[in-house]
Amino acid sequence: MKIISSPSEMNALTRAYRKNGATIGLVPTMGALHQGHVSLLATSAARADVTVLSIFVNPTQFGPAEDYGRYPRAFEADRGKAAAAGCTVIFAPEVDGMYPPGHRTIVEVEELGARLCGVSRPTHFRGVATVVLKLINIVAPDFAFFGQKDAQQVIILKRMTTDLQVPVTIEICATVREADGLAMSSRNAYLSPQERRAAPAIYRGLQAALDRYDHGERNSAPLREAVVSCVRAEPLMQPEYIDIVDTQSLHYLAMVSSTALIAVACRTAESGTRLIDNIVIGGSL
Ligand code: PAJ
Repeated sequence: MKIISSPSEMNALTRAYRKNGATIGLVPTMGALHQGHVSLLATSAARADVTVLSIFVNPTQFGPAEDYGRYPRAFEADRGKAAAAGCTVIFAPEVDGMYPPGHRTIVEVEELGARLCGVSRPTHFRGVATVVLKLINIVAPDFAFFGQKDAQQVIILKRMTTDLQVPVTIEICATVREADGLAMSSRNAYLSPQERRAAPAIYRGLQAALDRYDHGERNSAPLREAVVSCVRAEPLMQPEYIDIVDTQSLHYLAMVSSTALIAVACRTAESGTRLIDNIVIGGSL
């Protein structure tokens, strides 16, 4: 497994792979790898000849009061997990390599980035879109793999690659969960023991809504209420939003007549950790 930090070296390597006829899969991450990331790597390794894992804690997607400085960094452990999952190259650039002095260009996916998580994180998705387009340009992959866990992110990235006619196929992988249903996340490490015990209420709520949907409920209000009542039962989980939206426009849906996204964000009461989760009903992303 190669480890590369220079964007131009990465680009040269990717050109050499392509010249030999190899297909390339890109798995963009911010590191501190868990089983969710590993499942993306394994999916890429099964699909493409070469799998490039990018590890970059991207400063432009963090707000000024957010956790950029203390975001977990665990390169040595990540290297072992990546190799075991079939990764070919780790691309781990420095901040200056991705944002050299004088950098002025941002990618804004209008409207979609302002909804759901965009309400409390107004500059987050333009940071994500900018860095992911840069990573795609550097690595020039055939496929790029993202988790459904961050549903709004992958909806926005699909919109971006469609709108900007980026020649890459976006693949969406299922959310990997702990045994009690909590979606795996690098930020789960911030939870206090009490918060960790309370956190599965989010997934229980989503499952309760799915159960009502499976029994024929199509009105969003009672479906949403099923999630709200589960989450409200845990005072340590403070909902930021619990919404049922269209999977393309992210507009609120009064009725679920085709595919819908039920998306939740909570902040925990003790450590102030932001947790997100979702399910898709009536279809897939
Ligand atoms: P990060 O949070 O490290 O996540 C990297 C990828 O792993 C994303 O596609 C995310 O959706 C996926 N992922 C995270 N938890 C998962 C889980 N429990 N199951 C399945 N997939 C999961 O998302 C980012 O980094 C950044 O915004 C990035 C796209 C790298 C741009 O900086």
